[in-house]
Amino acid sequence: MEALQITGGIPLNGSIGVLGAKNAVLKHLVATLLAPGTHVLSNVPDIVDVRLMCEVLEHVGARCVADGTTRTVTVPEVLSAEAPLDVVRKMRASILVLGALLTRVGSVRIALPGGDDFGTRPIDMHLDGLARLGAEFESRDGVLYGEAPRGLIGADVDLGFPSVGATENILLAAVMAKGTTVLTNAAREPELEDLASYLTAMGAKVVGAGTSRIEIHGVPELVAATYSVVPDRLEAGTYLLAGAASRGEVTVVNCVPDHLRMELSKMRAAGCDVTIGESTITVSGPERPTAVDFATLPYPGFHTDMHPQMVAFLASGDGTSIMTENLYSGRFRYIEMLNRMGAAIRTDGQHVVIDGQSTLVGATVDACDIRAGAAMVIAALAAAGTTTIVDASHLDRGYTDLEPKLKSLGATIARIAL
Ligand code: UD1
Repeated sequence: MEALQITGGIPLNGSIGVLGAKNAVLKHLVATLLAPGTHVLSNVPDIVDVRLMCEVLEHVGARCVADGTTRTVTVPEVLSAEAPLDVVRKMRASILVLGALLTRVGSVRIALPGGDDFGTRPIDMHLDGLARLGAEFESRDGVLYGEAPRGLIGADVDLGFPSVGATENILLAAVMAKGTTVLTNAAREPELEDLASYLTAMGAKVVGAGTSRIEIHGVPELVAATYSVVPDRLEAGTYLLAGAASRGEVTVVNCVPDHLRMELSKMRAAGCDVTIGESTITVSGPERPTAVDFATLPYPGFHTDMHPQMVAFLASGDGTSIMTENLYSGRFRYIEMLNRMGAAIRTDGQHVVIDGQSTLVGATVDACDIRAGAAMVIAALAAAGTTTIVDASHLDRGYTDLEPKLKSLGATIARIAL
């Protein structure tokens, strides 16, 4: 097992860039399956989840070649219907192959997905939406079997909740379905909008992506395309909070400031100085954050994947902050870890009450999952002394070159084998 060792109390300063969004590129990789030929994706982060998704693609017959931040995916005319069960169990995003394989193969076999342990994460909306387009499903022994006996046919789909994954799965199934699909109460996340742009570059007819009503006019075929993935707002936000927590000043370049509007407004409310350029954001941290209340919500609300990092920042704030988590019931394991570092945080149902402490102290903590791990990094940079974050590989699922990037900003950080 690997661990990260971070010595805190040193203000971070400088500029770093971010790569394409994990939560976009995983879907773009799946989308390649819709068109035979050679696709070229650029701005791709070298993270474990991208490698896992490439394994899924290779298993169904595609070929993925990595060259720096470019992934070239060659998709054959004929694909296999079976996604690799072991990989799918590790990564929830692999459920997105449902829509693509039903379209290309007419059937699909896939394990019921895994991923981070955030409590129950059902896929009922994916299945109900695809069923509206003509798919039929049954599950046996943890394996889901799907087919579209009469092909996929456009339909009206109203989601009970703007699920990102369900919106994307239905979009992937609808772009080559017969007729028009109208998706209402759709997710509006920038990564989903980016998937729609990529599909459009492939020849799809999608209107309204980024709004809650998406109209998809099915086309008979798509063509392979070249595309640069939208910058990762979560990677950007994490480094900005890391800088702020260390009481330093960090600039993130090559990002889309608008995609972090809510998170930046909460950073401002917490006393950060925030300067926005066309594709840059600079945040400098206060001596001690001011207490702030916030709630996670689908985009454009505060991103649930930024909540642990913001809580870690507010742990050394002045006063009591309250955070309400509206998306996941089981996303609180990291709180016990922050409390080991001297934080005073408690939960009450879906609410998290953060009594800001004047100092955090280094301790041995567990990364728990990608964003909880990022929260540990942020708390460690703010804390006095050295923090050891065990199970650090969780961070590799979402962050490329975490240590070199933090080192370039002046952090004292090392990866050690335990
Ligand atoms: C995606 C992101 C994840 C982020 C989440 C919310 C990827 C790879 N992952 O996950 O990092 O935290 O969006 O922004 O892009 N739900 C159901 N039934 C369903 C589908 C979802 O009840 O069929 C529930 C989930 O359990 C959860 C909520 O809806 O409580 C939101 O999930 P969803 O938006 O689907 O998230 P993901 O697409 O899984």
